[in-house]
Amino acid sequence: MRPFHFPSSRSSSSKLLTDLLGFALVLVLCVACSIGSCTDQEKSFLLQFLAGLSEDGGLAMSWQNDTDCCTWEGITCSTDMMITDVLLASKGLEGHISPSLANLPGLLRLNLSHNSLSGELPWEDLVLSSSIIILDVSFNRLSGDLQELPAQTTIRPLQVLNISTNLFTGQFPSTTWKVMNNLVALNASNNSFTGQAPGSFCISAPSFAELDLSFNKFGGGVPPDLGNCSMLRVLKAGHNNFNGALPDELFNASSLEYLSFQNNGLNGVLNGANIIKLSKLSVLNLENNMFSGKIPKSIGQLKRLEELHLGGNNMYGELPSTLGNCTNLKIIDLKVNNISGDLGKINFSSLSNLKVIDLLTNNFNGTIPESIYACTNLIALRLSRNNFHGIFSPRMNRLMSLSFLSVGGNAFTNITNALHIVKRFRNLTTLLLGGNFKHEALPGDETLDGFENLQHLEISGSSLHGNIPLWLSKLSNLKKLELCYNQLSGSVPTRINSLSFLYYLDISNNRLTGEFPTKLTQIPMLKSDRRTYQDERVPGMTIYSSFSFFKYRQYGAFFTAINISKNGFTGVIPPEIGQMKALDILDLSFNSFSGEIPPAICNLSNLEVLDLSNNNLAGPIPSELNKLHFLSAFSVSNNDLEGPIPTGGQFDTFGNSSFNGNPKLCGPMLSHHCISQKAVPVSTLSTNQSSDKFIFGITVGLFFALGVLLDQIVLSRLRFLQF
Ligand SMILES: *[C@@H]1O[C@H](CO)[C@@H](O)[C@H](O)[C@H]1NC(C)=O
Ligand SMILES: *[C@@H]1O[C@H](CO)[C@@H](O)[C@H](O)[C@H]1NC(C)=O
Ligand SMILES: *[C@@H]1O[C@H](CO)[C@@H](O)[C@H](O)[C@H]1NC(C)=O
Ligand SMILES: *[C@@H]1O[C@H](CO)[C@@H](O)[C@H](O)[C@H]1NC(C)=O
Ligand SMILES: *[C@@H]1O[C@H](CO)[C@@H](O)[C@H](O)[C@H]1NC(C)=O
Ligand SMILES: *[C@@H]1O[C@H](CO)[C@@H](O)[C@H](O)[C@H]1NC(C)=O
Ligand SMILES: *[C@@H]1O[C@H](CO)[C@@H](O)[C@H](O)[C@H]1NC(C)=O
Ligand SMILES: *[C@@H]1O[C@H](CO)[C@@H](O)[C@H](O)[C@H]1NC(C)=O
Ligand SMILES: *[C@@H]1O[C@H](CO)[C@@H](O)[C@H](O)[C@H]1NC(C)=O
Ligand SMILES: *[C@@H]1O[C@H](CO)[C@@H](O)[C@H](O)[C@H]1NC(C)=O
Ligand SMILES: *[C@@H]1O[C@H](CO)[C@@H](O)[C@H](O)[C@H]1NC(C)=O
Ligand SMILES: *[C@@H]1O[C@H](CO)[C@@H](O)[C@H](O)[C@H]1NC(C)=O
Repeated sequence: MRPFHFPSSRSSSSKLLTDLLGFALVLVLCVACSIGSCTDQEKSFLLQFLAGLSEDGGLAMSWQNDTDCCTWEGITCSTDMMITDVLLASKGLEGHISPSLANLPGLLRLNLSHNSLSGELPWEDLVLSSSIIILDVSFNRLSGDLQELPAQTTIRPLQVLNISTNLFTGQFPSTTWKVMNNLVALNASNNSFTGQAPGSFCISAPSFAELDLSFNKFGGGVPPDLGNCSMLRVLKAGHNNFNGALPDELFNASSLEYLSFQNNGLNGVLNGANIIKLSKLSVLNLENNMFSGKIPKSIGQLKRLEELHLGGNNMYGELPSTLGNCTNLKIIDLKVNNISGDLGKINFSSLSNLKVIDLLTNNFNGTIPESIYACTNLIALRLSRNNFHGIFSPRMNRLMSLSFLSVGGNAFTNITNALHIVKRFRNLTTLLLGGNFKHEALPGDETLDGFENLQHLEISGSSLHGNIPLWLSKLSNLKKLELCYNQLSGSVPTRINSLSFLYYLDISNNRLTGEFPTKLTQIPMLKSDRRTYQDERVPGMTIYSSFSFFKYRQYGAFFTAINISKNGFTGVIPPEIGQMKALDILDLSFNSFSGEIPPAICNLSNLEVLDLSNNNLAGPIPSELNKLHFLSAFSVSNNDLEGPIPTGGQFDTFGNSSFNGNPKLCGPMLSHHCISQKAVPVSTLSTNQSSDKFIFGITVGLFFALGVLLDQIVLSRLRFLQF
């Protein structure tokens, strides 16, 4: 039995729908008993399309010349045996799209999305087709420019055009749309279109409702003509090069529900009289532009607003208290602006739908308002780099859904109290507290249990004293632990090896003593050569790190590191260190390690940064170190090493600063040349090694030097924190 489809996909009322369904049922029964087949002509158009494919995904098995093409895979016919639908999404098709499809006289819907089709789109044939109403060629590799089409007089039926995620280039046609009186949706996102954006759709198409131009290279001003689109619901234009202000006319498009221009070069202020015209707005995303001025009071009238993204602009002034009227808000993202004042002026208790509040890097002051604790659905709260102060309120424990909490770089006090409150958040995976609690003691209190799911804990730059507490080794899901720039003393607890997922440990710049914590070398995650781990983050919450920006720029979540530099560690570097095969970064500098560099260190084949400088190491530099192909930053300066510097491999790229301060070392880059130099043969970087690793290496190399330099210059208060 052949499936029956309505000629049009849209019907206007449910009454009509019921009538039609009844009618359809009769027709279906009819079809079931009738005999018929598609025309030979239609068959040949389909076979021409098939012939244009270099990979047909098995289509030829079904598309047999001697069978009725209405039964072919992906083909649907109407009752009168006209082909209405060619639906071949995700069939693994490769090759060209033959214009022959446009000759199918009754074709209504053509869907070729999610294939690997390439070459040009038969634009004129398909878009100017006198039958096609839905054309979806998204997610392919189609390329070329889309030409302006010759002047037409006949109105075309096209309603939906999706050409997103292809490789189209050039200016977007602007006049073609005059005959598209039925156009409802156009998705041109994620191509490389340039020039002025099209805006004149609504002169001819009164029902135009969705326009997606995002991820292209459109430039110039935002087309004011879009304001004439009285039915426009969705306008997405993020990640382009638009500049200038949002035109006043745009705000005439009062049906807008989704408006996004993030990551462009727009400026000007948000006009309060304009914004209230968009009373149906549910998403406003103007992130990462150059908007200035205040957030208008009238924003409180956008009752349907769910997402407000204004981060990365130059907005200032106080947050209007009317924001508390937007009771549907789920996301408030104002990060990296200069918004000031006491947050307590907003009554958050009416905003119980809130999931994300991101105020990173602003000028807010006062305490965390108590009303925020009514937002029990909050998943992410980031208040870092403001001027908040005070202690965590006991009512904070109502935020039981929190998964991400970042308050670094404020002036909060009483870390004991803070930890006892947040330990109860079962879903908490990321806790960033650094730069607060100045000169307090890191509590060693055994009752600090909980933190069941904590993966990333950072309490750096707080001048905390005390020992590294035992309760830390009970955080069995911990992946990243950062306690750098404090005044912690004593040794590293031997139970540290119970943190079996730990891959990133930074306890540098403290007063820790004792031998190298050999238990670290037993941590499964550090031993494994599989590199599949990734942090489970709250979607949209990128963690920023000013420290890594300077030193190990692209470090991010995926780099495995042990940094115990600038402490008082003594004794030898144990050979077990060679077990931590996952390590990208090993920094033991500025301690008092003695003895020889264990040759086992050469087993750390992923190593990109190795800093052993400023210790008391003696003996030779293991020559096999030149086999570490990714090593891009290396220093053993200021030790007591002797003998020749290895040659070959990455060692040919290190300058004398890597070796200075070892009078007994000799090598070509030092003034002290070796008497007889044996060339050590070494394999060069093989070509199949991943290129991003190589790029990372270059960046690290560059910023490593800069980082060391910056250590010696002024230390900004917050340089080493994560947010
Ligand atoms: C399909 O069959 C028809 C006759 O039924 C024939 O004329 C035509 O050449 C065939 N096409 C192909 C591609 O084999
Ligand atoms: C095309 O097919 C894909 C996969 O089935 C579907 O997601 C998409 O919505 C279809 N396009 C149109 C315009 O219906
Ligand atoms: C292409 O865009 C149309 C209109 O927005 C949409 O209905 C369709 O689902 C999109 N196709 C895919 C594969 O997402
Ligand atoms: C346009 O297509 C992209 C996929 O490339 C999709 O993510 C986006 O949601 C679509 N836009 C609209 C308005 O449907
Ligand atoms: C944009 O296209 C690229 C390939 O050209 C693809 O990898 C990426 O996922 C697409 N982005 C979106 C948002 O669809
Ligand atoms: C948009 O609408 C205004 C007022 O309704 C009109 O003056 C203007 O000509 C229209 N623009 C276009 C391009 O149609
Ligand atoms: C559209 O906006 C402009 C400028 O804001 C205004 O002068 C004009 O009257 C508006 N047109 C309509 C139809 O609302
Ligand atoms: C909107 O917020 C203001 C300030 O918080 C308040 O005075 C006013 O009553 C609110 N209006 C509505 C309709 O809720
Ligand atoms: C931020 O705003 C304050 C006034 O609230 C002003 O003094 C300061 O200069 C502004 N900072 C920047 C970087 O614009
Ligand atoms: C908080 O900031 C506002 C606006 O910048 C300022 O007027 C006020 O004095 C500040 N309050 C405190 C306690 O610093
Ligand atoms: C914690 O997360 C899980 C899984 O995402 C979810 O089912 C649960 O409701 C969350 N718990 C709370 C208290 O939000
Ligand atoms: C810090 O908080 C704890 C627990 O709430 C409390 O017992 C202690 O007295 C507080 N310490 C200071 C210095 O206020």
